[in-house]
Amino acid sequence: MKRIKAIYPGSFDPPTNGHLDLIERGSKIFDELIVAILRNPEKDPLFSVADRRKMLEAMTAGFDNVSVDTFEGLTVDYALRIEATTILRGIRAISDYEYELQMALMNRKLQPGLETVFMMPAEKYSYLSSRLVREIAQLGGSIDCLVPELVAQKLREKMDVAHKFENGEQLADKTHSEGKSKSRKKKS
Ligand code: PNS
Repeated sequence: MKRIKAIYPGSFDPPTNGHLDLIERGSKIFDELIVAILRNPEKDPLFSVADRRKMLEAMTAGFDNVSVDTFEGLTVDYALRIEATTILRGIRAISDYEYELQMALMNRKLQPGLETVFMMPAEKYSYLSSRLVREIAQLGGSIDCLVPELVAQKLREKMDVAHKFENGEQLADKTHSEGKSKSRKKKS
């Protein structure tokens, strides 16, 4: 019997409950599913590839047929290299469709043997995106129901570090300018 090996490529910065929902659905229809994180040197991500990999590995530990990998370059080349025949992508709303269709058709042009399969996450995740999660976390909003607890924890740690850095920098700036004004005062 033919076994279907699929890849689920993406940025996953950070992985969300929507991604997890799709992984669960994919794991039920494919024999093997590889969550493939794009290593994109042009992007400045919030989480390193290593962090995203760790989070996704923990999130998918309960699925026997799901693994996590990283790749660089074209998705179709990666799929071919690991002998996957299918690309899984999620469509949340009509607004996703145009971009996803364009990508699927281009991937088909590049590699006609590869099939893209679209799946829809649960409705409650239809408005969820990594970009919004990053923005909400950065502005101090609650991301608790949007990402798994381990991701929420990692986001909180990141934001704490960022705030400490900002405050430290502001403090350093203040001290620096106070120092300057003091030395200016001394001169006058
Ligand atoms: O999670 P994202 O950012 O929507 O994922 C987009 C991704 C990684 C699937 C897409 O950008 C991609 O496939 N990039 C790899 C480079 C590539 O193959 N480009 C041609 C796409 S037609």
